[in-house]
Amino acid sequence: MDATHPDREAHRAFLNRYYGISRWFYDLTRRYYLIGREVAIEQLIAQRGWMSLIEVGPGTGRNLRKLRQGRPEARYGGIEASDEMLAHARRKCPWATLAGGFAEDADMAGLLGERPDRIFFSYCLSMVQEPHRALEHARRSVAPGGEVLVVDFGDLSELGRFQPALRKWLDSFHVHPLPEDIEASAFDVEHGWGRYWTMMRFSPLT
Ligand SMILES: C[S@@+](CC[C@H](N)C(=O)[O-])C[C@H]1O[C@@H](n2cnc3c(N)ncnc32)[C@H](O)[C@@H]1O
Repeated sequence: MDATHPDREAHRAFLNRYYGISRWFYDLTRRYYLIGREVAIEQLIAQRGWMSLIEVGPGTGRNLRKLRQGRPEARYGGIEASDEMLAHARRKCPWATLAGGFAEDADMAGLLGERPDRIFFSYCLSMVQEPHRALEHARRSVAPGGEVLVVDFGDLSELGRFQPALRKWLDSFHVHPLPEDIEASAFDVEHGWGRYWTMMRFSPLT
């Protein structure tokens, strides 16, 4: 794992502390506020144009398991910055190729032996230290004709007086709703209720 960025090691240490205990009840609690994941997974399963997928920040591996139930013939991989989550996901998804690394520079193109058809970020990009760099890296790593799919917190702009409190709460978990220009570079965007979540699709960059 490349920890040469000055803050990378601190980020990894935070994630290990944070998920060290919470990974055991993570899936139970997150189902109530990591909304939009089901929509993204259903859409991916319904799309026939892919045979390999890497999830960046797979956490416990729950999304990969759901994807595999719907598309057992595809190959799966994951890049995870937290050692605690990585160990957990490896136990739960022995059929996936999972590696430790950071979204900004991990070898996504080579993890499965060839560029993946899909790269999926589910509530991960808002935790990444350099989201623009991570997204560009994914778009350069995905196969020609492939897609990068991001589901994450939206700008929360239609949540009225709840918005500041929610932003503050997310901040305490090192989560930062994505900058607007990220959405502007997507070729397809869908918003969930109150702009609480957003789903974006990006084309490959050459
Ligand atoms: C909020 S959790 C989401 C987990 C899973 N994707 C889901 O939808 O349930 C964010 C995940 O991203 C990982 N993560 C955070 N920063 C990362 C980075 N820079 N590179 C790779 N993974 C990262 C965390 O360790 C965690 O597993």
